[in-house]
Amino acid sequence: MCILGIETSCDDTGVAVYHPERGLLSHLLHSQIRVHRDYGGVVPELASRDHLRQLTPLIEHCLKQASITKTDLTGIAYTAGPGLMGALLVGAAEAVAMAWALDIPVLGVHHLEGHLLAPMLEPDPPQFPFLALLISGGHTQLVAVNAIGDYRLLGETLDDAAGEAFDKTAKALGLSYPGGPKLAKLADASDAIDPNFPRPMTDRPGLDFSFSGLKTFALNTIQKEPLTDSRRALIARSLQEAVADTLAIKCRRALKQTGLKSLVVAGGVSANHRIREKLSALGPDLGVKIHFPRLEFCTDNGAMIAYAGCQRIQAGQFQEPIIFARPRWPLAEVVPITTKTR
Ligand code: KG4
Ligand code: ZN
Repeated sequence: MCILGIETSCDDTGVAVYHPERGLLSHLLHSQIRVHRDYGGVVPELASRDHLRQLTPLIEHCLKQASITKTDLTGIAYTAGPGLMGALLVGAAEAVAMAWALDIPVLGVHHLEGHLLAPMLEPDPPQFPFLALLISGGHTQLVAVNAIGDYRLLGETLDDAAGEAFDKTAKALGLSYPGGPKLAKLADASDAIDPNFPRPMTDRPGLDFSFSGLKTFALNTIQKEPLTDSRRALIARSLQEAVADTLAIKCRRALKQTGLKSLVVAGGVSANHRIREKLSALGPDLGVKIHFPRLEFCTDNGAMIAYAGCQRIQAGQFQEPIIFARPRWPLAEVVPITTKTR
């Protein structure tokens, strides 16, 4: 069994080869930062075209790095959704065409399932069941994970995702796309934190999030006074601290409510070092184990898709070789591992 994973849901072209016994044989990423930078955000049509240009050579390169050829592959997994339709279709078409030509199984994987299983690629992987905090550019969710494909949504954002709060505040601070990591860097330059930044929805029961008010608070603060370097850093640090505190408060609550003993934190925002620090502190405090993917597998990548696809294909799950993508796809609608997809 040797699975090729393809990720093209947004602005990163990711490919990887995963082997159940030998682990990850290779993984490569092509970032589209240069394609979108001048526009201040992802331009969907440009994203699709760049995936189209990059994907085939990236796969060839990845197979070479794994010291295998196409005919050694026993299955292909690709991100079928959620994501940008055009971008998803590039990965879906490539995966289905290759699988059809090689006469091997193909399967469309849920992007967030890829994220939440990413820590399985680390040396001390989490055991089921666990609590997952998914924090990316489009999602903020708390999920009880019983097994692969057995997901119970406990809470989610009612408006902006955590990544959006980072990205939009970064833009208002004059930082270029992609804003999240740049805002995190700027935050390191401030010694102070503005205590007035809110920790939204933490003063009432429940596990839902809302980051739009916090983002607006940051944007209003930016407009109040001229932006000196130290004010920019102060605002960045205060926003980051407010997001980190909010996530930590909700995770603590969810761990207590569910009694789960492991917390998986995944998705692009889990690369943030302050958020990692705050959530790691819950471990000794609550007697739970905290798992993060390595930094390069926090953001979008092919390895998580190859891994998730491998678990399902290994269990006999695959789809007809039909180009299939689902730009909107709630995680709760993902099928359990034993069911054939289409
Ligand atoms: O998972 P991901 O790569 O793509 C989506 O599925 O959305 O997440 C991207 C998000 C963006 O909002 C980006 O700004 C944010 O993750 N991000 C960060 C950091 N690295 C990436 N946010 C805060 N601090 C970081 N270090
Ligand atoms: Zn993602």
